[in-house]
Amino acid sequence: MSQKQIGLFFCMISLVVIFSACSPSGGESPGHEYMPDMFHSTAYEANLLDYYQYNTWGSKEDYIKYALPRKPVEGTIARGAAGLGRSDMGDLAEHFQSMPVSGSVPYYYGDTDEERTRAMAEILSNPLPITEDGLQQGQELYDIFCGICHGPAGGGLGYLVRDDGGLYPAQPANLLLPEFVAASEGRYYHAIMHGKNVMGGYSDKMGYEERWNVIHYIRSLQAEELKLKYDENENTLNNVGVPYGTIAHDNHAMPGEDHGGEDHDETNHSHDEGHGHDNDEGHH
Ligand code: HEC
Repeated sequence: MSQKQIGLFFCMISLVVIFSACSPSGGESPGHEYMPDMFHSTAYEANLLDYYQYNTWGSKEDYIKYALPRKPVEGTIARGAAGLGRSDMGDLAEHFQSMPVSGSVPYYYGDTDEERTRAMAEILSNPLPITEDGLQQGQELYDIFCGICHGPAGGGLGYLVRDDGGLYPAQPANLLLPEFVAASEGRYYHAIMHGKNVMGGYSDKMGYEERWNVIHYIRSLQAEELKLKYDENENTLNNVGVPYGTIAHDNHAMPGEDHGGEDHDETNHSHDEGHGHDNDEGHH
């Protein structure tokens, strides 16, 4: 053998030794790998298929099973997606928690006529109370997203369809018509979520509360047209929107009223309010 042949021979021997030194993991042994070393995780990684035969604990099928996305635990609510409205409602949060959330987030109605009809029949109330802040937010958003077509007052005469050179080809709905005053909340919510015909959807432009506040604002425009009230203190337009003021009255003033006959003194009154809160009559 020449020196070159001997060199080659040892080279091959050492290669064989190196490669046979690799071994699979199992039991107490993490396994051996020549180069990749920590490249492959021995742990199961969520949502990542990281199978490598020499450095794994289970079969490839196990790894695929763990790599697949899994469903959240039943009843899980995504952050910010609870049907309950404002976190700053304090005591009132409890009141609204007990109300069925109509058209909850996520929205379970598809973009078809049948689903629109179903939404109109099933979504009957606005989950948020009517508040001054809410109406203000509704107005802001309405003016940005809706008023350009439906008009600042809701009459369907927005900037885009104006007589002198409006370029929009279709007539936006006149939301002040009796048909729309009588329409259920679902008709509005569905229109915002999916649009209708040439009107596009606005679900990606507004959040859950914002949509409902826009609907409150549209109701307030209808009330204005009919010389009725739809605000934080009073709603004479429909029996669906709940004015914030009337709930605050239920929760705070009513218990005091229960004792009104006995206590005329201001300090006694506030003292007794604590008992009033325990009294279920104070809550509706
Ligand atoms: C680019 C113009 C345009 C904008 C912006 C727009 N709409 Fe519309 N909207 C229309 C048109 C056009 C129709 C009539 C669709 C039809 O009946 O074919 C309509 C219809 C409606 C209807 C009636 C749907 C029904 O069931 O008949 C509602 C409610 C509505 N829009 C609410 C809104 C709200 C709320 C916004 C803002 C978030 C908004 N629209 C923004 C053009 C617009």
